[in-house]
Amino acid sequence: MLSRLFLVIALFSAVTVFSVEIDLKNKNLYNETAYITSQCYTKTVDKLGVKHNPCYSCHIKSKIPNYMSDEDVQESYAFPQYATKNRWTNLFKDRSKQVSKITDKNILAYIKQDNYKNKNSEIIISSKLKNIPTKWDFNNNGKWDGYTPDCEFNFDEDGFDRKNNGTLTGWRAFKYRPFLGTFWPTNGSTDDVLIRLPKLFWLDENKRVNLDIYKKNLLIVEDLIKQNKEHKSYVGQAKKQKIALGLYPVGTEFLHSVRYIEPTQSGIKLSVRMKELRYAKKLRWANYHEHQSLSDEEFKENHDFPDRYSVYIGDIESGIYNKRGWVYQGFIEDAKGELRPQSYEETLYCIGCHANIGAISDSTFAYARKFEWGYWDKKGLDGISDKKNEYLNYLKNNNHANEFRTNQEVYNKFFKNNKLDIGEAKKIKNNIAYLLNPSKKRALNLNKAYKVIVEEQSFIYGRDAHIKPLENVYKEVEQDKSTKLTIIEYH
Ligand code: HEC
Ligand code: HEC
Repeated sequence: MLSRLFLVIALFSAVTVFSVEIDLKNKNLYNETAYITSQCYTKTVDKLGVKHNPCYSCHIKSKIPNYMSDEDVQESYAFPQYATKNRWTNLFKDRSKQVSKITDKNILAYIKQDNYKNKNSEIIISSKLKNIPTKWDFNNNGKWDGYTPDCEFNFDEDGFDRKNNGTLTGWRAFKYRPFLGTFWPTNGSTDDVLIRLPKLFWLDENKRVNLDIYKKNLLIVEDLIKQNKEHKSYVGQAKKQKIALGLYPVGTEFLHSVRYIEPTQSGIKLSVRMKELRYAKKLRWANYHEHQSLSDEEFKENHDFPDRYSVYIGDIESGIYNKRGWVYQGFIEDAKGELRPQSYEETLYCIGCHANIGAISDSTFAYARKFEWGYWDKKGLDGISDKKNEYLNYLKNNNHANEFRTNQEVYNKFFKNNKLDIGEAKKIKNNIAYLLNPSKKRALNLNKAYKVIVEEQSFIYGRDAHIKPLENVYKEVEQDKSTKLTIIEYH
């Protein structure tokens, strides 16, 4: 009897090794402060006394109506007591053995496989959501109450997504300068960002879908978010919608696919396989006053109760609300590589970056960094300029290429005797790909390292792809251990 029980357990664990499944409806948190990202635990002074500031990309003097100016955080580890323990323990694992078992051929085959659409061009995750499995049905009402992916990823030259019969889905792709550090292909992933305004914004005075009207409204939003120019109203049927500098109209949606890195003959490409599909929607208007009060409250709370941490409402189905009008939701690979909804804790991870740092514009990143309409083509980041010396400044201030200082490839290219080689760094000016794109070998290694996390389904312990345990990251930080960091800027 006992031996039979053992056999069952042995069989069970053998199966789970190959296909780990986690309880997605569970709202108990392993990491209550999952919204504080792993990057915050980086040591800012190294053994040689060299200072590294990767913090300023996120924690920076904000632009109103973002009142969350948090540049002081760069210099301190002013975490709530609970968060002084770094719960992103995946950072400290050694993946060498697992990675060495994955061949180049296997990982390439894996990332080239489509996990978004099947052979009949149906969106796989959306078909699943239509017949919602009980394990995803948080409120047990027999239907999915969250976002159902509806982008065809079939873009015309202007970036508009179209169904097979040519009709618009409303999604429009644009190209942007990737955010500093962790979002560069050489640091782990490729990605794209799409925007959609509510249908009212596509309709002209006669209530007809009119691409010129939609384009105009998208440009108005761009002016507002980049704070280039004020506008008094939108055009067409959206004329009466609320409008303000620095804010999106209610109903704005974003889609953001995070992908593996595919090395090709002509350079680095986004893989067909998605690591994640991330979504956001602005559900309600929050005016300047509300944005200011929320930040004031945050600062007051941090001052009066430094050890309290934030709690956010939501669940696997409805996503998580960021208190500033937006809801966030994501899909991620299951152990077999098929997309599944992200759990409450996995989604909580989204909310810090998209609510409470100086770097965002109405909770978003990429639109303010847009330079062109259209989906990423073969050229990718090739030939894109470092117009404002942002990337150069990042190398200068961080004295490395990523937050964790593990990107030895970039380091060896740009640093000589621990100093930035200005001659080399100048090559970024007209071509950011020189910095942002990894070699083929690095790309494959990063893909393999992430694939291990997918097999383990261990995202709540960290999603950062790396092979060796990280050394420049605290396992435990001392509160308020401050380092004087100065920001150097080249213009
Ligand atoms: C990729 C963006 C990013 C980078 C880079 C980053 N952080 Fe953070 N940091 C965050 C987010 C998101 C939060 C959570 C904000 C919130 O909701 O309170 C946070 C929170 C913090 C907090 C807690 C603040 C509070 O009020 O609870 C501290 C302290 C902090 N970061 C320090 C650092 C330091 C030091 C660095 C550099 C070594 C750094 N961070 C780099 C995104 C970042
Ligand atoms: C470490 C900070 C960080 C975390 C955590 C994070 N994001 Fe983002 N997000 C970004 C950045 C930066 C971009 C812009 C992408 C780029 O520059 O390559 C972005 C882009 C997006 C966009 C497109 C609109 C925009 O803001 O530009 C959506 C939608 C999005 N993220 C949703 C999510 C969801 C859902 C999650 C959780 C699963 C998440 N994000 C977690 C930083 C973060």
